[in-house]
Amino acid sequence: MFNLILFGPPGSGKGTQSEKLIAKYGLKHLSTGDLLRSEISRQTALGMEARKVMDKGELVPDEVVIGMISSSIDQNEMSKGFLFDGFPRTAAQAEALDKLLDLKNSPIAVMLALEVSEEELVTRLVKRGETSGRSDDTNESIIRARIAEYHKKTTAVADYYRQFDKVTLIKGEGSIEDIFNSLCKEIDERIAE
Ligand code: AP5
Ligand code: MG
Repeated sequence: MFNLILFGPPGSGKGTQSEKLIAKYGLKHLSTGDLLRSEISRQTALGMEARKVMDKGELVPDEVVIGMISSSIDQNEMSKGFLFDGFPRTAAQAEALDKLLDLKNSPIAVMLALEVSEEELVTRLVKRGETSGRSDDTNESIIRARIAEYHKKTTAVADYYRQFDKVTLIKGEGSIEDIFNSLCKEIDERIAE
């Protein structure tokens, strides 16, 4: 198994690049944002609770997302590996993920962290909000709250993986194709190891 975390602030391109990476490497894409939005569209109790938090740009409780990831891992035991997008987002989530992957003898190989300036993030998300239908894209103050939440709680996840020397920074501005090629170069080096 080859497990990868695609990391970065809201709007940094995690979803865009994940689609291309899973097509190339055959990994299973696990995006907690997508899983939560699916709960919302099915109007489950979990989705209704999560929506209140997501609409403020804040993080859903750790136990909720850890539970979703745990069952997704169990349901995809035969996968070639996992691409985690938008998870882990707190140090507690990172520790829980390591424990889950230890049980499968299949640790995180690398965290690739997309770096994009705050103004570019806001520009991208405001633009997407014109058509996406995502309620957390609809106004700039929610977008900025999501970015603030990232600085407050999520940058700690990079510190967590840095202690194991697993973090590689990737320039996340420029063409989608150039960024994809930078990501592939890092992945290919590690798959070859
Ligand atoms: P989530 O769904 O994870 O959203 P996010 O992290 O806020 O980020 P986005 O999905 O908006 O951005 P992205 O990095 O995927 O970029 P994208 O490729 O879409 O989380 C949403 C909410 O769910 C959270 O706020 C939280 O409430 C909750 N949640 C989720 N996971 C959680 C967790 N683990 N714990 C607790 N709560 C959790 O690109 C963005 C835009 O830019 C697109 O329009 C795209 O076309 C464009 N774009 C992409 N690349 C480029 C480029 N190179 N140049 C120009 N434009 C580009
Ligand atoms: Mg996304």
